[in-house]
Amino acid sequence: MVSNSQRAWEALREEARVCTRCHLYKCATQTVFGEGGVNARLMLVGEQPGDQEDLAGQPFVGPAGQVLDRALADAGVDRATTYVTNAVKHFKFEQRGKRRIHSKPQGPEIDACRWWIDHERLLIRPPVTVAMGATAARSLLHKVVTISGTRGHRLTLEDGGECWVTIHPSYLLRLRDKADKAREYDRFVEDLRAANRRVAALAAA
Ligand code: URA
Repeated sequence: MVSNSQRAWEALREEARVCTRCHLYKCATQTVFGEGGVNARLMLVGEQPGDQEDLAGQPFVGPAGQVLDRALADAGVDRATTYVTNAVKHFKFEQRGKRRIHSKPQGPEIDACRWWIDHERLLIRPPVTVAMGATAARSLLHKVVTISGTRGHRLTLEDGGECWVTIHPSYLLRLRDKADKAREYDRFVEDLRAANRRVAALAAA
């Protein structure tokens, strides 16, 4: 049986398809809404869809998504039990010849798109959220923060949920030095594992 929350989430996703809250809808292929069960206890928030996500209409299916999938598996977290979404739901890019180059969303775009993530959160009410990267953290915390200043700290969101800040998986793709890459990957896995442990601890409390 389809629950009321599931129905409400589907209606929200439909509404988001025609979102014109900021200008980004004009160039993107489609809205990339969040994905996962409405009963998910762990929400993972990224920045915005990339080129492949924009074409597929699904979050984290491109190179950063592959890193995320591997890290989740190494952390013992089944992605199917999580809800994965982005702070900004349209791909922002610069066209360079045939290539579409990722362009970082700015404050007004993050603020305009917060309406959607707030409504996703209202329906899902995740006790634990992982903000992957500074854009996700800014959207969730309503202020500019640094990863180094917030990582490892339990933060509380306006809706009472816990928020843990970590790096964005695409940061790992940009690291060139093998040792740095391995160390940062391990830290990312540990952040995901720790967040999952919080889910279990809160469920048992
Ligand atoms: N990067 C993001 O932040 N989100 C995606 O969905 C893909 C890449």
